[in-house]
Amino acid sequence: MAVRCVTGILWGDEGKGKIIDRLAADTDCVVRYGGGHNAGHTIFLGGEKLVLHLIPSGILHPGVLNIVGNGVVVDPWHLEEEIEGLRGRGAEVELGVNFFVSEGAHVILPLHRALDQVAEQIRGSDKIGTTGRGIGPTYADRASRTGLRMGDLVRPARLSRALDYLLAEKNPLLRAFDLPEVERGPLETQLIEFGQRLRPAITDTGHMLRSAYACDQRILIEGAQGVLLDVDHGSYPFVTSSSSSTGGVAVGTGLPPSAIGEVLVIVKAYSTRVGEGPFPSELFGEIGDQLRTAGNEFGSTTGRPRRCGWFDTVAVKYAVAVSGTTRLAMTNLDVLSGFDPLPLAVAYDLNGERISDRLPLFDIEEATAVCEEMPGFQDDVTGVRRYADLPVQARNYVEAIEDRVGVPIEIISVGPERDQVIER
Ligand code: IMP
Repeated sequence: MAVRCVTGILWGDEGKGKIIDRLAADTDCVVRYGGGHNAGHTIFLGGEKLVLHLIPSGILHPGVLNIVGNGVVVDPWHLEEEIEGLRGRGAEVELGVNFFVSEGAHVILPLHRALDQVAEQIRGSDKIGTTGRGIGPTYADRASRTGLRMGDLVRPARLSRALDYLLAEKNPLLRAFDLPEVERGPLETQLIEFGQRLRPAITDTGHMLRSAYACDQRILIEGAQGVLLDVDHGSYPFVTSSSSSTGGVAVGTGLPPSAIGEVLVIVKAYSTRVGEGPFPSELFGEIGDQLRTAGNEFGSTTGRPRRCGWFDTVAVKYAVAVSGTTRLAMTNLDVLSGFDPLPLAVAYDLNGERISDRLPLFDIEEATAVCEEMPGFQDDVTGVRRYADLPVQARNYVEAIEDRVGVPIEIISVGPERDQVIER
């Protein structure tokens, strides 16, 4: 059976958690392919808020396998905390039963966090606005072949060799930045202990997945972040360090690219971004503040206020093409109630040139959005469950976006709870 893939369209925080949680109910296996605990997938269960950072959203569904793929970077300190937190809320997380981590997934160490923060200080006012969780430096070590992998934690001799290389490179660097050097002994002991505790979960998940695929199991791939945070296809350098668009799926899971069938991409009814970087349809001042308050737009991982802006059809159309989106799910439509008119970014002005048919990614920092105004709606739509029952202005807004980006919006979320969804 073709693999289904879900990811975010622009800069993450589109509300993937809720949609993936819904789809996970009729899935055999949910897999993460990239990113780390920089992600935050928020789910509301019976009014209670739950944020998953590293563990796939299928964990709340009994009988579903949850796999952290080789393309993910894993902070074992965080992983154990997240497992304990979930168990404390009544979720069953059984290592080697319903939860697995790829032996090829790279390990985030405290030194990576320290280097992440130093890199930001060096950039000064040009900082990326990272989550500070060591994501970039860990992927850098993966590419330069000095990284530790989860499989090393259960192979002490290999761990020891890998630490030799890593610390020979990193300790002089830490010293140069006036940071404390890493004491090898205590770190090695801690990593071996993680290996002993996590051993049942650490395995060749690529083989597991290919076997599941061959047996026609229902596999759901869970993206973190969004297409415009992709290291190659996003607003570089204001991106994360992995291939967060669907191109990363084969790389980060070991499934063949041809396995991907459906690509469901999550789009918010307006735009948001945390961290620095270009955002052509960004709103400044009172309306931006109102949107942030109405949508409770604060980062689920860092708590930072999200920057808010109007829906950007130019950026979304680009991300649809890059990711191979076959259908869209729109979240937070309810938040737009009361905003009248509703501007829609339909083109960019780039130094006097009007562009609507492509995303001028390299020069996007100089682009400003050109908006068309649509009539807004006033009604509370949180109780609506049938598309036909939405106010006509809301339907016109949804359909105008579909026309411009060229794919259907088949799911519309109108509130945080699991059942606040319209399926078309
Ligand atoms: P990093 O991934 O921590 O290196 O951060 C790089 C950029 O990606 C920053 O702008 C972060 O705010 C952003 N980012 C990383 N993960 C997420 C996410 O899951 N949602 C939204 N933004 C993210």
